[in-house]
Amino acid sequence: MQKTGVIFDLDGVIVDTAKYHYLAWKNLADKLGFEFTEKHNELLKGVSRVRSLEILLEIGNIKLSEEKKQEYLVTKNEEYLGFITKMKADEILPGALELLDTLDSLGIKYVLGSASKNAPLILKQVGIFERFAGIVDGNSVSKAKPDPEVFLIGAKKLNIPQENCIVFEDAIAGIEAANRANMTSIGIGNEETLHEADYNFENLTEVTSDFIKKLISEKNKKKHRV
Ligand code: BG6
Ligand code: MG
Repeated sequence: MQKTGVIFDLDGVIVDTAKYHYLAWKNLADKLGFEFTEKHNELLKGVSRVRSLEILLEIGNIKLSEEKKQEYLVTKNEEYLGFITKMKADEILPGALELLDTLDSLGIKYVLGSASKNAPLILKQVGIFERFAGIVDGNSVSKAKPDPEVFLIGAKKLNIPQENCIVFEDAIAGIEAANRANMTSIGIGNEETLHEADYNFENLTEVTSDFIKKLISEKNKKKHRV
């Protein structure tokens, strides 16, 4: 029986869609008359669409009716869709395909664990949808990261005990979710920001097949977080 499984976040780990989210949210901020910077955009990473709008409105100190919020959620997503429907395989982040190849060669299954409701579309656009053993996205969860729900459903899809799962994440909320799920968390991006991760790498090109093999053999032996 396969003992170890992998769960990937999508945005910021496999593809760089943060720039498209940023452009779409920035247009809304422009329309509402306040400045929304790339630094502000960091706060939206890993966070659900609805929560992203709330954070954006907090930044602009703006209160809106529920009706208006719904309207802006729709228009923001339409604009975002305009960007992602043009995505191609060349937007897969460096090192991602090599890592999937390594996992395939080791017979390790992987699923997606993303907050995005657009995750299946993005994976299809860049041509790797079929490679995943399962998809958990923003449509499948009732609680957003840092709640561990998304990863716990992922472990079920892998049919692997949660403590035997390895999670790749670029967001603080995602690392917290993985840790709360008692999984091994691997932070991709700034080490200081993601200091709660069990392991840190600047990007996926740094995740060597030797590291993966060693981690998997260690995990197969042992230790559970308490
Ligand atoms: C996450 C992104 O993966 O998905 C967030 O990091 C985004 O920035 C969230 O808000 C929801 O995405 P979508 O595609 O459902 O609007
Ligand atoms: Mg992410």
